Amino acid sequence: MDKKNGKPELIGVIDIGSSKVACLIARPEVDGSLTVLGTGYQASFGIRAGSVANMDAAESAIGAAVQAAEQASGSTLRSVYVNLGGGQPNSATVEVKVATGGAAIEAPTLRRVAQQCKAALAEIAGTPLHVIPTSYTLDGSRGIKDPRGMVGSELTVQLNAVTVNGAALRNLISCVQRCHLDVSRVVLSVLASGRACLTPDEADLGATVIDMGGGTTSIGVFSEGELVFADSIPMGGIHVTNDIARGLTTPTAHAERMKILFGHAMTTTTDKHELIDVPQVGEDDVAMIAQVRRSLLTGIIQPRLEEIFEMVRARLEHSGFDKVGGRRVVLTGGASQMQGTRELAQLILDKQVRLGKPIALPGLPESQLTPAFSTAIGLLFYATSPNTEFRVIAAGEGQKGLFNRIGEWFRENV
Ligand SMILES: Nc1ncnc2c1ncn2[C@@H]1O[C@H](COP(=O)(O)OP(=O)(O)OP(=O)(O)O)[C@@H](O)[C@H]1O
Ligand SMILES: [Mg+2]
Repeated sequence: MDKKNGKPELIGVIDIGSSKVACLIARPEVDGSLTVLGTGYQASFGIRAGSVANMDAAESAIGAAVQAAEQASGSTLRSVYVNLGGGQPNSATVEVKVATGGAAIEAPTLRRVAQQCKAALAEIAGTPLHVIPTSYTLDGSRGIKDPRGMVGSELTVQLNAVTVNGAALRNLISCVQRCHLDVSRVVLSVLASGRACLTPDEADLGATVIDMGGGTTSIGVFSEGELVFADSIPMGGIHVTNDIARGLTTPTAHAERMKILFGHAMTTTTDKHELIDVPQVGEDDVAMIAQVRRSLLTGIIQPRLEEIFEMVRARLEHSGFDKVGGRRVVLTGGASQMQGTRELAQLILDKQVRLGKPIALPGLPESQLTPAFSTAIGLLFYATSPNTEFRVIAAGEGQKGLFNRIGEWFRENV
């Protein structure tokens, strides 16, 4: 609530992607729903594989997206929720046990869990971004969702600790701060995307979210409503475009257009007969337009997508969470929109794959109800109801920005 005028404080989120930056401003309604008041959308600069690679370029892209959203909504943002798609996320399962002495479990016990968890995390490389309790066991009884108020003598908590490269996190935060905005929270992209596209049943029973963006393909396994495993591959739609540009010696802008208009993830029977125009690099002359069979284009796209999905399969198998995610895969992100991508993913991952579009919100333009906006919309959901998690406040985040690498620990929603 805004203290000055008593109105609910607006929520601002920015999806800082390798291909686009999207800023959404929404108003939380009394019934808990959200109304989008303004959006700003901008081609991304200075972001490579989901991380800031050029501070000045990224700052101006973020600034332009925020300005457009502010103008559209007639408001000014002070703080925002932002995503991190790169930063080499790594998931580790941490288990901590605390003696509870038969007393009811309340905040002090959970603080002891947090302390032990902090000690366990000190052994793990990287900066913790999310530390999510995934299951509680009280005296051998498993499957407890929330142990508060329960009595027992020993509480075991399993946590998914998602760590990222500390420098990537700090660069992202500084970049946003350079746009005169405070960072309320940095959220892993795939956690946000999952919030936007998974049905409650999928999140509960087990599903894997694959967000195929421009520069990254993020993987998130969800079970019992929580993110239990996360990983990311620094490869996405931009690599497909570059392969086309190189393979057909055509400018990148044209390769991107060809990909969107004619691209297919798998060879089809019509591909062999259809011819498409390919302007050659450095040639303005119409005579220098080559014609190629559409199957040649597919022949360039397919191996790259196969490589990405094979890496996803390998990472899932190696993680030990492949089975936890069950047979359901929700494929989202801008690059998932290419025809045939769902079928190819299904074949390689040997799972049931559906395309995930974000849940519609009042005020959101139809043009933004696409898989490319899953992370941005998911950030809005995260902002209104954050995950239950143990927090490590990164330098520059929120009001506790003065803390260094590892700041204060507390449990949200205690
Ligand atoms: N219809 C389409 N067919 C194929 N590819 C598409 C289509 N529309 C968009 N893309 C591709 O989607 C990619 C951008 O997706 P998205 O907007 O999700 O990326 P991002 O969030 O900016 O990047 P990242 O999450 O990897 O940092 C681009 O490579 C673009 O070419
Ligand atoms: Mg993205």
